[in-house]
Amino acid sequence: MENYEEQIDKMRLPQHVAIIMDGNGRWAKQKGEKRTFGHEHGVDAVRAVVEVAGKLGIQCLTLYAFSTENWNRPQEEVDTLMSLFVQAIHAELDNLKKNNVRLRVIGDVNRLQAKTQDEVNRAIQELQHNIGLTLALAISYSSQWEIVEAVKHIAIQVQQGKLSPEQITTQTIDENLTTVGLPKLDLLIRTGGEYRISNFLLWQAAYAELYFTPTLWPDFRHQDFYKAIVDFQHRERRYGKTGEQVQGK
Ligand code: FPP
Repeated sequence: MENYEEQIDKMRLPQHVAIIMDGNGRWAKQKGEKRTFGHEHGVDAVRAVVEVAGKLGIQCLTLYAFSTENWNRPQEEVDTLMSLFVQAIHAELDNLKKNNVRLRVIGDVNRLQAKTQDEVNRAIQELQHNIGLTLALAISYSSQWEIVEAVKHIAIQVQQGKLSPEQITTQTIDENLTTVGLPKLDLLIRTGGEYRISNFLLWQAAYAELYFTPTLWPDFRHQDFYKAIVDFQHRERRYGKTGEQVQGK
């Protein structure tokens, strides 16, 4: 594989990258193993992307670890995933601490078992004073769930007379989403060869660059991530303007 790391322009890094980590099940099946084997090996890819994001100085990395829809998977798989999150966070805690990583979870965490919630919250607290990379794990997350929650919250503020409908702007929506305070999403990566957003960061991806790769998640490593960033840096981001306007011609 080409060396993509040396092609990166450190002055034009994406501030916020999100990843749909897809393909664990197929990866395991190709090896004649159970789907959960793929998830276990997915942790190695998570470690690789966290390392790259930290090393480059990317501000925020959001990983789609478990969607609202994933609750419908066989109970054995759901249980394995939940214990894998806790185990991985636990096993990597010292490493995350050393590397100045802050942890955040976005999603309907109330649906997690109390024990899982406690473990995750403990890790968030231990890492709360770090100021490097923010690692946001989307667990029990879906974009439509989050937008419904935001709308309910805004409706209550209107009902209580704290806000008038005319005062509602895109910023009001931003401030009521689980991603409040995170930098604007620049790059959305999906592994596993499908071309879908699957209910992930629909609002936040308004102007994100999309990058799809056939690589299955457990095979995704440092150079794959560098390659996606190099690709991002070759895009012209116009935000609705013309190419000439953006280039100042
Ligand atoms: C999608 O692959 C992947 C998931 C639903 C789980 C992702 C979880 C991990 C990578 C575990 C580690 C995570 C953390 C944050 C420590 P799929 O099962 O849908 O694959 P398929 O499309 O091939 O069936």
